[in-house]
Order: sequence, then structure tokens, then C-alpha cells
Amino acid sequence: MSKIRIGIIGLGYVGLPLARLFATKYGVVGFDINTKRVADLKKGSDLTQEVGDNILKEVLTTVSSNEKGLFVTDNSEFLKECNYYIVTVPTSVDKNNQPVLIPLLSASKIIANYLQKNDIVIYESTVYPGATEEDCIPVLEKESGLVFNQDFFVGYSPERISPGDKVRTVEHIIKVTSGSNVETAKKVDDLYKSVITAGTHLAPSIRVAEASKIIENCQRDINIAFVNELSKIFSLMNINTNEVLEAAATKWNFLPFKPGLVGGHCIGVDPFYLAQKAQQYGYYPEIILSGRRLNDSMGNHIASEVVKLMIDKEVKVKRANVLILGITFKENCPDIRNTKVIDLYLALKSYGVQCDVYDSWAKKEEVKNEYDINLIDGIYSKKYDAIVLAVAHKEFKNIDILKLKNKKSVVYDIKNFLAIKDKSL
Ligand SMILES: NC(=O)c1ccc[n+]([C@@H]2O[C@H](COP(=O)([O-])OP(=O)(O)OC[C@H]3O[C@@H](n4cnc5c(N)ncnc54)[C@H](O)[C@@H]3O)[C@@H](O)[C@H]2O)c1
Repeated sequence: MSKIRIGIIGLGYVGLPLARLFATKYGVVGFDINTKRVADLKKGSDLTQEVGDNILKEVLTTVSSNEKGLFVTDNSEFLKECNYYIVTVPTSVDKNNQPVLIPLLSASKIIANYLQKNDIVIYESTVYPGATEEDCIPVLEKESGLVFNQDFFVGYSPERISPGDKVRTVEHIIKVTSGSNVETAKKVDDLYKSVITAGTHLAPSIRVAEASKIIENCQRDINIAFVNELSKIFSLMNINTNEVLEAAATKWNFLPFKPGLVGGHCIGVDPFYLAQKAQQYGYYPEIILSGRRLNDSMGNHIASEVVKLMIDKEVKVKRANVLILGITFKENCPDIRNTKVIDLYLALKSYGVQCDVYDSWAKKEEVKNEYDINLIDGIYSKKYDAIVLAVAHKEFKNIDILKLKNKKSVVYDIKNFLAIKDKSL
């Protein structure tokens, strides 16, 4: 194969940092169907804030070529000169929590138009074991007319970044790699090794690599579900969960998970992929699905806890002013997709309270479109009957809670972030 030219399909939280990294060494075509996203990136602006504007501008090019650099486009024709394709499109679930493979299959269809002999297609999107071989490769074969593992080859290399984490960025996380035969696996591994400073782990097969990624997120989900369950039990017993966890964490092998809302499009979604596949094999996954149920119940649970505390303090609940701090699905990132703060908000509203939501990370327009909530611009214009810290954005450390509360106000710190000993001030 001549010089490596990489086409990256999907320039979101995963695709853009990867495209930027590869572009420091190779000619990269970054393709996305979202015209607005492409226009922003062309200007050197990444609204996800995963790649700094200056870092992005350093690699951007205005022409697609074999020379190192990133050419971003919404025109798939530019993919035709590529010989490596990397797919980083979303893998969500529908309202019945069934996997949605449409973006993955449509990306495969696009690639198939340009696929040539000896090209390699690498999937990075999180999927259940078997998705690459059973769902994607047939599309590549059918649409291209080429034969898998004879004319073209495939790899799978899952992404492990966590949005907002500026330390463990893509090049600093060991990358699991795999390929459809020994030679391809080596090529895929070599490609990632050339830019991932943390190194790679070559898995023995595509299915093993797929399974390894999905269980990372399932494990996290189940561990959080366990501490969420503890917080429900201890709340009934009037024991402070955070104090219990702090004490238990002094043992060397106690895992330091914290209770809270589990949103986003990874931990709250990926377990359904494995669960669905397991059921196709006739196995009902008890632990995985009960973890999901438990975590999805937390918004309602926290709302009822807040209201109970208000009643306890004789704060009138109906039309009480409540402030929610944070709407994004996690701290220090602008991503509001599948945020579970919305469950908390809706549950609080169902008790008849007035709810203000403040989050300087989230885009006001996006929150309005997605959830019909008008984010407030500042927090000190009134006193609140209850204040709930839902997301631990670093800026919230500086909030003057005393300025926000009345004598009897409830302060509920879901993330145990404000360094308040008692959950209820
Ligand atoms: N965000 C994370 O933290 C994270 C971490 C690890 C793995 N993942 C996985 O990586 C994958 C991508 O996630 P993401 O967060 O980057 O998603 P994203 O929504 O941020 O980005 C996906 C991009 O793909 C584009 N797209 C959709 N269909 C396309 C198509 N057919 N052709 C070209 N572009 C298309 C979208 O316009 C979007 O810009 C998912 O499988 C996700 O589970 C995400």
C-alpha cells in the first residue's frame, strides 16, 4: 500500500480529537453529514470543546492531500483517495432501549462507494460483540461488490476518552486494537501505535475488542448502581452515605464509586447493547438490566428526597423556588445529550415547585430546543427554598451558597462536591 491517507467518518466528541491527532502525522479527511458542524470546524472552532481552537487550527488544511493535515468536509467525494477509513458515528438506543445502528450502517454504505482493493475500514463506535462482522461488513460487501478479507479488510478499535477530561486525552489512553486477519490486525495496531503515546493492546479478534469496550461501561454502570442502591438504603436509615463511603474507602480494595445520576450516551446506553445481544442468545442479563433500572430511577428518588427535606424544615413545597445547578450529563463538558438531570427537573416540577436551572457550560439554545428549559443567566438575583447541586462543574466550587439560601432552605449536594458535611444545611 502506498502512502496512508485516513478518512474519518463522524467528527463528534470521538472523531474530531482522533482526526486532529492523526493529522499531525498523516493526510486526514474528516467527513461529517452535519453541515453546521463542518462549517464551525473549518473556522477552527470546536463547540464540544474537546480540541482547543489553536490546536485545531494548527492541523487544518484547505486542500485534501497525502501531506499531513486535516481537511474537514461534508462532501463524501473527498473520501475516495483514502485507504484507511475510521468510523466514529453515534450508537444510541431508541425509546425502547434497543440499539440504533442506522448511523453505523449509513456510514458503511458511504465508505463502500469509495472502497478499493486492500483498503482497511476500522470501526471505533461502541457496539455489542458481533456488530462489526454481522451488521457492518455485509453492508460494505454488498454496496462495494468487493469481497471481505480478500479485497478489503476490517478492524475494530474502541475509543475510551471521557468528554471534559483534559488529562487523559486520546493519545494518553492505551488503545485496544484488532483486525480481521493477522496481517490486518498488525497494520491497524501499527497505525494507532504511530500516534498513541500510551501504546496499544492488540486483541486476538474483533469480537474480543468489541466486548472489551462494552464491558468497561457496563462495569461502571453496575458499580454506580450499587452505590446508588446503598444511598437509597442509608437514606431510609438516616445514615449519611458519603460518610459511609469515605470510611469504607480506607480499605485498600474498596472501589471508590459515588452515587448520582448516570446520563450521557455511553454508560447509560451501552449496557443495553450487551443486554440486547445476550437476549438474542437466550440469556436474560439480570445484573446489567437491574443496574440500568436502578440508575434510571435516581432522578425521581433525589427529587423525593429534596421534597422530604423541605417538608421536614417546614418549607412550603407548592410554588417553592428551587435552583438546580448543572444540566449537562457530566461535569466540565457542554454535552447535554441524555442528561438525567432532566428526570430530576421533571420530578421536582411534578411536586409543584418552580425550578430555575443554571449551567454556564451548556448552550442555552440547545437546552431550550432539547428540553424546553430556559437556562437562567445568573444565580444571585433571588433566594431559593432549595438548591440542588446536580453536576460538579469546577466553577460551582466558588458558589456562595449562603447568598442563595434562606434560613430554612434545603441544600442538596448530589455529588458531595460543595464540601458541605450535612446534605441538608
Ligand atoms: N463521547 C464519548 O465520550 C465517547 C467515548 C467513547 C466512545 N464513544 C462512542 O463513540 C461513538 C461516537 O460518539 P460521539 O460522542 O463522538 O458522537 P457525536 O454525536 O459527538 O458525533 C458523531 C458525529 O457523527 C456524525 N454522523 C452521524 N452519522 C454520520 C454519517 N452517516 N456519516 C458521517 N457523519 C455522521 C454526526 O453528525 C456527529 O457529528 C459512539 O459509538 C459512542 O458510544 C463515545
